[in-house]
Amino acid sequence: MTGEHLPYYVEFLTMDDLDLTGKTVFLRADINSPVDPNTGHLLNTIRIREAAMTIRELSSSKVVVGSHQGRVGSYDFVSLREHAEILKGYVGRNVRFIDDVIGPAAREAIKNLKQGDVLVLDNLRFVAEENFEFSIEEASKTHMIKTLKDYFDVCILDAFPAAHRANPSIVGFVEVLPTCAGRLLTQEVRSLVSVLQKLKPPITLVLGGAKVSDRLESLEAIMNSHRVDKILPCGLLGVIFLKAAKDLDVPTGIKDEEKYVKKAEKLLSDFAEALVLPEDFAIEVDGKRKELTISQFNSEKPVLDIGMKTVSKYAEVIRNSGTVIVSGPPGAYEKKNFDIGTKTLFTELANSKALSIASGAHTLTALELFGLRDKITHVTSAGGALIKFLAGKKLPLFEALKRATEKWRAFK
Ligand code: 3PG
Repeated sequence: MTGEHLPYYVEFLTMDDLDLTGKTVFLRADINSPVDPNTGHLLNTIRIREAAMTIRELSSSKVVVGSHQGRVGSYDFVSLREHAEILKGYVGRNVRFIDDVIGPAAREAIKNLKQGDVLVLDNLRFVAEENFEFSIEEASKTHMIKTLKDYFDVCILDAFPAAHRANPSIVGFVEVLPTCAGRLLTQEVRSLVSVLQKLKPPITLVLGGAKVSDRLESLEAIMNSHRVDKILPCGLLGVIFLKAAKDLDVPTGIKDEEKYVKKAEKLLSDFAEALVLPEDFAIEVDGKRKELTISQFNSEKPVLDIGMKTVSKYAEVIRNSGTVIVSGPPGAYEKKNFDIGTKTLFTELANSKALSIASGAHTLTALELFGLRDKITHVTSAGGALIKFLAGKKLPLFEALKRATEKWRAFK
């Protein structure tokens, strides 16, 4: 797996190629953050802190920040009010929030911006269209883009974690506004491509986290690209694989679980050599950690961590790897007694000689919590998008940047 095999290079337009002084800029950031299901407050602010880097540089522009947050119907489908408040602390300038996206209130607020001001629009997915995928051409004709385009001079795409989504705010402006990559995205992709030139075999992918459908899709792409030698599925994904391999009766709470188990069965039959399955898990009984081997496994309780046998088996694979890519924590690292899998494997990785790539906001939060972030070769808050990028898949945001290079290169 090297940079040459990737579909994208860094030769897209950046913030250095467009004159941004005095301009009203639509900045498509990704400040989608984990939300505490009990309090509704943000669990970490990593992506907000990162987005602030680009915004600080735009001090001579009028900046309108757009981002999605969560998915329709989910507990994390919330407003961006708290994000804006946190962003203000990181940016150190006037940051306002408006509880509107394309309505008169948002448009009036955009019109009234002064140089240096920052306005955060509400969750873009509150506009129905933003929950659907479009071609670049179709997206430019959506109501969102037609309503907002005349209020902006330039569009900056800085949402690497959402690069795999062809939503209007990501692919819709490029036909109608000079568009370039944001600073954060440019830096992330440059450093990623440089790491990818140096990858050493064997390459291991540790996959955890909760987005099982995305994970399985990416896994299929990455396995078909033959770019990874070993896969260590953890968390819910690990449970799905075990259900496929051993027909376990364990609750996952995942909608359409049957479909995912079928997909996992297919992956297991096609890539049995590469997939190293968990052997035990931890659940919570009376507030304590209880380890269950697969043969004991018929539990009503949700899995909260990989078990100790799996931890040592996976640690050994990590020790013998030339490169390890981690996307998603192996367990509920934020919960006392259930952080063992995540902490042990991440420490193993940090102390190993392997080249390491850590991906996703939860992964970075766990690394920061354990004081290990600085020992990782490359970190990015992108989760699913990074895996698709590594698999060599075409990503809509980069398709838009490619189109921007053709269309706006001569524009200053
Ligand atoms: C992510 O967290 O992976 C991105 O923000 C994309 O979010 P989505 O999977 O809800 O589209």
